[in-house]
Amino acid sequence: MMRGIEWETFRKLRGSKKKEYFLRNGNIFHVIMSQQFDRKFLDEICELATKIRGISKGNKGVRFLQSLLQGKRAMLYFVQPSTRTFLSFMAACQILGIQCSEVRDTSTSSEVKGESQEDTVRTFSSYVDLIIMRHPQAGFAERIAFLLNQIGRPVPVINAGSGRDQHPTQALLDIYTLHRSFENYGGIDGKKIAFVGDLLRGRTVRSLAYLLRNYKGVKLYFVAPKDLQMGEDLKEYLREQSVDFEEKDDLEEVIPLVDAVYMTRIQDEYDEAGESKRIDYSKYHFKREYLKILPPNAIIMHPLPRREEIPVEIDEDKRAMYWRQVRNGMWVRVALIAKIFRKDRDIMEY
Ligand code: ASP
Ligand code: CP
Repeated sequence: MMRGIEWETFRKLRGSKKKEYFLRNGNIFHVIMSQQFDRKFLDEICELATKIRGISKGNKGVRFLQSLLQGKRAMLYFVQPSTRTFLSFMAACQILGIQCSEVRDTSTSSEVKGESQEDTVRTFSSYVDLIIMRHPQAGFAERIAFLLNQIGRPVPVINAGSGRDQHPTQALLDIYTLHRSFENYGGIDGKKIAFVGDLLRGRTVRSLAYLLRNYKGVKLYFVAPKDLQMGEDLKEYLREQSVDFEEKDDLEEVIPLVDAVYMTRIQDEYDEAGESKRIDYSKYHFKREYLKILPPNAIIMHPLPRREEIPVEIDEDKRAMYWRQVRNGMWVRVALIAKIFRKDRDIMEY
């Protein structure tokens, strides 16, 4: 472990170099960014999530899962809005017998008295065994993981969304959804995936694109308004990793070519001066008529929440996977927490 390294030096390292710092005794510990995961880990997490789904179908299995981490405590520090991620992490903890506390509004915490966010989270680490955090600032979860490592406080940190930057556990549930959808169609390798909408500021797209480098022969289409195209840093990463991608702006032209369409909403909470209003986002909506040109085995994804990107009538189409993504998120998060606390073998042997 890189003890003694300065934060500024650490911060500038590449994701692949930081990876080792997020491990403990060779096991996954902090979950901060998608670059830390390899194919072996992704395959294992999908297998574990499926096993957990099966076990939880019976009462005996439910009791077994609940016994695994009884006595452990988690803090959900969510200071940016969330419905799914917050609730699915809470449910995942409950499934494993972990008790949860939450902070969602800092107006009742000592941050009001001028305490720094770092000191706030450091305080949590005195009371709990796991910290799960969503924060508007890119890199904040990473900074906390760094701080806890430096002070020798062994409490894992899970990034549940960090500003415009990353949402690694959403990417894991997206991989699990793709894995389940293409189980009988050759898996994720070789699949063509279109990412649509605000790719510049959408952290789910960034985290999933990072993960997809682990699959052979995938092709990514980035379909976005010119001002919201994918960031240069991520494109550079994909070039280095030899992941094929193409930038487009016509959604209708791309739909017949792909195995998955990943829709996103405009991330206008990050506007500096109302710039989203000047963009015609309706060109990046999935129109009903597109169902006819979408290949029969292709799937429609969305991390949610949606606005008008996908009309509700489309929910009935068997290719619409976004409500499955919501449910898959809970199972993947159970699997992830079980892995962090090294309960995966017990589960696989059940
Ligand atoms: N819920 C996802 C996120 O937190 C996507 C979104 O909000 O548009 O990044
Ligand atoms: N997909 C997702 O992160 O949803 P929430 O923002 O509601 O947590």
